[in-house]
Amino acid sequence: MRPPVLQIIIGSTRPGRVGPAIAAWFAGRAKAHGGFEVELIDIADFGLPLLDEPNHPMARKYTKDHTMRWSATISNGDAFAFVVPEYNHSFNAATKNAIDFLYHEWRFKPAGILSYGGAAMGTRSAQALKPVFAALKLLHAGDVSVPLVNNPVKDGVFHPNEILASAADALLDEIAMSVPALIERRSRAKTTA
Ligand SMILES: Cc1cc2nc3c(=O)[nH]c(=O)nc-3n(C[C@H](O)[C@H](O)[C@H](O)COP(=O)(O)O)c2cc1C
Repeated sequence: MRPPVLQIIIGSTRPGRVGPAIAAWFAGRAKAHGGFEVELIDIADFGLPLLDEPNHPMARKYTKDHTMRWSATISNGDAFAFVVPEYNHSFNAATKNAIDFLYHEWRFKPAGILSYGGAAMGTRSAQALKPVFAALKLLHAGDVSVPLVNNPVKDGVFHPNEILASAADALLDEIAMSVPALIERRSRAKTTA
C-alpha cells in the first residue's frame, strides 16, 4: 500500500517571504519520518484570484481552470500541514482564500499548523485557523509555533532549535496516527453523500 500523501502548504505569497524556508525544513523532517509521501504545495504557484467561482464549493461545479487545478492538487492529499504567517493577529488572507475555493477536498483529513511570527510565534494565526478547520471537518492534529525573533531564516534556510525539531516530529506522529481512521471516514462520507 502506498504511504499517505502529506501536503505541506506554503500559505504566504509575498516576495521575500520566509514561508518556503520553514516549509522546506518541515518537508525534510517529514521525509525522514518515513510515514508519508511528501508534497510541497505553494499557493503562490496557483495564481488564485480572490474567490471568483459562482457556485458554493460544496456543489463542486467549478468553472475556472485555476480552481480545477487547485482542486485536483488538494484532492491528492491525505493530510496537510499548513505553514502560515501571522499577519495582524490572524493568518494571512491568501491562505483563507485558497481554503475557501474548495470544500470536499479538505474534509475528513488531518491537518497540522506550523505558524510563525514575532514574540507571539504565530500563535494567534494558528488560533484563527482552527475554527476554519472545524467548519471543513479538517481534523486539527497539532501546532508548531515558530518564533522569528532571532532571525532563524538566513539565506533562505531555516535554522530551528531542538525544541522545534522535536515538536515537528511529534506533529508528524499525530498526523500519521490520524490518517487511517479518517480515510475510512472519508470513504463512508462518499457512500452516504
Ligand atoms: C501585513 C503583515 C502583518 C504582520 N502582522 C504581524 C503580527 O500581527 N504578528 C506578528 O508576530 N508578526 C506580524 N508580521 C510579521 C510577520 O510575521 C513576518 O514578516 C513574517 O516573515 C511574515 O511571513 P512571510 O515572510 O512568510 O510573509 C506581519 C507582517 C506583515 C507583512
